[in-house]
Amino acid sequence: MAVRLGIDIGGSGIKGAPVDLESGALTAERVRIMTPRPSHPEAVAGVVRRVVDAFPDVTGAIGCTFPAIVLDGRINSAANVDRSWIGTDADRLFSQACQRPVSVVNDADAAGVAEARVGAAAGRTGVVIVLTLGTGIGSALLHDGHLMPNTELGHLELQGRVVEKGASNRARKTEKLSFDVWTGRLNAYLAHLERIFSPDLFVIGGGISKRFGKFGPMLRARAEIVPAALRNDAGIVGAAIWAGR
Ligand code: BGC
Repeated sequence: MAVRLGIDIGGSGIKGAPVDLESGALTAERVRIMTPRPSHPEAVAGVVRRVVDAFPDVTGAIGCTFPAIVLDGRINSAANVDRSWIGTDADRLFSQACQRPVSVVNDADAAGVAEARVGAAAGRTGVVIVLTLGTGIGSALLHDGHLMPNTELGHLELQGRVVEKGASNRARKTEKLSFDVWTGRLNAYLAHLERIFSPDLFVIGGGISKRFGKFGPMLRARAEIVPAALRNDAGIVGAAIWAGR
């Protein structure tokens, strides 16, 4: 059984677990350590190292997510993270901190890879858009299971506003939106995405997807809309799979 460590860096927690690369199952209980504040690169690298050290038996390369544009391991945006990350070579920083190769991928791209390989979009052909609804809105665009990385579709502008500012799960909470009003905003967003990409399938992820039964039936699109299958583990699983590509 090929096993690789996957790490998922989020705004509140840094989580990790070994992943069976065939099935996508976690082979040990995941470890979660709070994201340091301020979340400067050195401080985050220290926590990544602590998560890695929690699995002394799992050797080899590591996959790791980051919630920003990642170009060849380098961070190229900072919508919801400390600005000091911009320009940081995260592959190098984490590889040095962990003393082994670490490969960094955008968090939503990792979720998309996981859903396409072993989750809600497994075996699906055509165009699939995975959206992660959290502090921001992350996106993964796949065609026949192949990822086109760093799409950042949460940063599209709709009616003069960056979509993630008004339609993320954080926006729902801070603006105290009912599911009715929130899904209205999401439906305008889905319609916009359909005009541009004509996807066959939308996969809705992020922590709120566990309440899909409540708001999912209010979502409307020509394409099929399904909840993510991997929920909170999608980043860990996708990072591990992506690192071995
Ligand atoms: C970032 C994306 C990220 C998404 C979800 C957005 O603000 O720009 O890179 O995937 O949040 O974390």
